[in-house]
Amino acid sequence: MNKQALETIAQAMVTDGKGILAADESTGTIKKRFDSINVDSTEDNRRDYREMLFRTEDAMREHISGVILFDETLRQKAADGTPLAQVIADTGALPGIKVDAGAKPMAGHDGEMVTEGLDGLRDRLNEYHALGAKFAKWRAVINIADGLPSAACLAANTHALARYAALCQEAEIVPIVEPEVIMDGTHTVERCYEVTTAALTSLYEQLGQQGVHLEGTILKPNMVVSGTENSVQAGLEQVAEMTLDCFHKCVPEAVPGIVFLSGGQSDHDATAHLDAMNKIGGLPWKLSFSYGRALQAAPLKAWGGKAENTATAQAAFAHRAKMNGLAARGAWSADME
Ligand code: 13P
Repeated sequence: MNKQALETIAQAMVTDGKGILAADESTGTIKKRFDSINVDSTEDNRRDYREMLFRTEDAMREHISGVILFDETLRQKAADGTPLAQVIADTGALPGIKVDAGAKPMAGHDGEMVTEGLDGLRDRLNEYHALGAKFAKWRAVINIADGLPSAACLAANTHALARYAALCQEAEIVPIVEPEVIMDGTHTVERCYEVTTAALTSLYEQLGQQGVHLEGTILKPNMVVSGTENSVQAGLEQVAEMTLDCFHKCVPEAVPGIVFLSGGQSDHDATAHLDAMNKIGGLPWKLSFSYGRALQAAPLKAWGGKAENTATAQAAFAHRAKMNGLAARGAWSADME
């Protein structure tokens, strides 16, 4: 393992005022996003849409440290023949790759999921490294419901995350480890705190056991929030304080950065929560974003599948990237919106 190379990449991923664009929607997920704007999900449409984001030059240069890609995109070329990974690298951002094969129903555990994709992962990572990927992502899904998550679900998912992380580091790729506690449900914010604490505790036990070099990893967690169907919703300060309290207990200081997923939060909440945490400050790790929907919802809608909307869509993406870049420094305020 080349520890120095891994540390350099991980630190670049959490450069001050920058965060990650999660553009790694699987073929099924991007189809859902395109359905919402009545656009067919063809290979060319997916390429045009993503190329448009990656060519939003100022936003990419100033606020985006890396882009997570789906396998198809890492192999795709821009309209002018330049590989999309090169288009990204030309802006100074690092290309990354989603390597999990998706969350599947867990045998014998109704309502729970386990992420697949370890078989053959070593060979795939070596190929991705040759294609220019500097980091990778693996997402585990943890649902909250009566009696869930089970200890078995947490153990299976964090074990897989740790084995994935070890394989990434062997291939000189920085692993983003993402144990996502899902927002859907009627649970309280306290229950989200409890489950997020259990998931992160189990994750760092497993990473330790597998000998993963924490300085060469990035954590991608959920925030501690109320279940979406709970009539009592924790406010901005409570989310910020409970999330940080959970991380101070569970996340070792050796971890260089924590980049949040947006998980279905509104664009405004995703930015405001990140900003509130950075305003509290005094943190041993960088705290930034790795948003999919909270960066892309606005440009996707503005684009609507029409080339003539490119400038408007790029402006919408640039705005969200700028707002989240400010939030990563604790320098955002609502009137900037
Ligand atoms: P969202 O920000 O839309 O949750 O997506 C981030 C991501 O990469 C989930 O795996």
